[in-house]
Amino acid sequence: MRILAIETSCDETAAAVVEDDCRVLSNVIVSQMRVHSVYSGVVPELASRCHIEYMLPVVREALEVAFGGEVRSAGLSLSSHEKVRSAGLSPSPGGEIRSAGLSLSSHEKVRSAGLSPSPGGEIRSAGLSLSSHEKVRSAGLSPSPGGEIRSAGLSLSSPGENRAKASTRIENRYGIEAIAVTRGPGLIGSLLVGVETAKTLAWTWNLPLIPVHHTMGHLLSVFCELPEGQSRILEIPPEGQPAPAQWETIPAASPIRPIGPICPIGLTSPTAPTRPTAAFDYPYLGLVISGGHSSLVRVDSPLRMRLLGSTLDDAPGEAYDKVAKCLGLGYPGGPVVDRLAAEGDSEAFALPRPLLHTREYDFSFSGLKTAVVRAIQDFGGLARLRESETALKDLCASFQAAVIDVLLKKTERALKRERLRRLVVAGGVACNRGLRAEAARRLQSVHLVFPPPVLCTDNAAMIGAAAQYLPPLPRSEALALDARAGWELP
Ligand code: KG4
Ligand code: ZN
Repeated sequence: MRILAIETSCDETAAAVVEDDCRVLSNVIVSQMRVHSVYSGVVPELASRCHIEYMLPVVREALEVAFGGEVRSAGLSLSSHEKVRSAGLSPSPGGEIRSAGLSLSSHEKVRSAGLSPSPGGEIRSAGLSLSSHEKVRSAGLSPSPGGEIRSAGLSLSSPGENRAKASTRIENRYGIEAIAVTRGPGLIGSLLVGVETAKTLAWTWNLPLIPVHHTMGHLLSVFCELPEGQSRILEIPPEGQPAPAQWETIPAASPIRPIGPICPIGLTSPTAPTRPTAAFDYPYLGLVISGGHSSLVRVDSPLRMRLLGSTLDDAPGEAYDKVAKCLGLGYPGGPVVDRLAAEGDSEAFALPRPLLHTREYDFSFSGLKTAVVRAIQDFGGLARLRESETALKDLCASFQAAVIDVLLKKTERALKRERLRRLVVAGGVACNRGLRAEAARRLQSVHLVFPPPVLCTDNAAMIGAAAQYLPPLPRSEALALDARAGWELP
């Protein structure tokens, strides 16, 4: 089944086209990392505004990467970020769309910037219906994270009218057979943008809608077949900095390249082990570790998963980000701490291994951050620590060793008790070089797979892959789909 998938659970706006056997035709991501770096963490309100702004360009780019000329010749020239910018859709907090969620307030500008959808009108009436801002407003689609648009599909104000449009004006010329979307868990304002977009596309293209659990996406990303050159990424710069002129193409198996000078994504290079997934099979253990979650999950099939443990407080990526902030290293913390750790002595500072000896599989990382703060104080303060040639690297190495030790010990225990011999490690923290190397060293008898970084970080290809196995909603229920910030793994 050819699926157009959408993911907006946190601070990546992503769309992908995925076919049978999880073959990825396109994988497009707009990262807001540099927008949030100014605040040393994700600001939910900014995240949802950026999603609103970039959602349609990302969908269009995903279609263009997948179907090339077809989309281009249809006049869907949304590819150029410059055009988006010059359309007045400045993504910054200071931008014109500042206050607005769907903020399609400058519809005319969008049009004049060449963002008008195809003659066939697929996206015009489908996407966030840029054509009718006032209707959006009057339909109660104010996009605040508080959730006004929760219940709404863009078309709820007059479904009959939309149905008529769908049958007469909307043509799905790309052979898309279903729309998939991350329903949760995540930031509610961010999720809402993706869910409402997906509902609108499904309605106007008369396609089934498939809600997907975000963690399930990470777990099934291992089955994605991502051909060379099908990934595109674009980083939104912080306010006041020039926008990148075009999408960057990310080679399938290479690291996510640093684009901006401030906080490159996944700076680490995925040396081994990124093994071919062809032979991978069920059952397996999944370790999903990112800025928002850490979960150990037993996966018996796409529809049979069991959560064994998760974080009780901070996720590991969050711990990396907080420690980096304490050390004055900027945001996101993972890549830079990983790089410094590689040159440090991991035994220089004695740091705790929280919950290591409890029988459960749950994690806790907030105490580790506190221990790092104490270590800085004991050393004589941050200034003194940073003056030293080696202390900063040693502290990063000691912190990273503690995180890796806890993650891998619990993982090893789960593999043993569950009698599993296959392991997938996914999520942003799975880009960590130290973790990859240590896991390969400790788990030599295990079939271990780290998906490539572009599939570890939040992306829509994994949502499309998971959707291949999931049932679509009955059409009568599709428009009532809501986003679920705290959705438990089904
Ligand atoms: O999966 P992701 O892109 O977004 C979510 O949080 O869902 O993960 C981002 C997190 C950030 O906390 C970042 O610091 C962390 O992943 N991260 C890393 C590395 N690269 C990114 N953590 C450790 N080592 C890395 N190399
Ligand atoms: Zn994630």
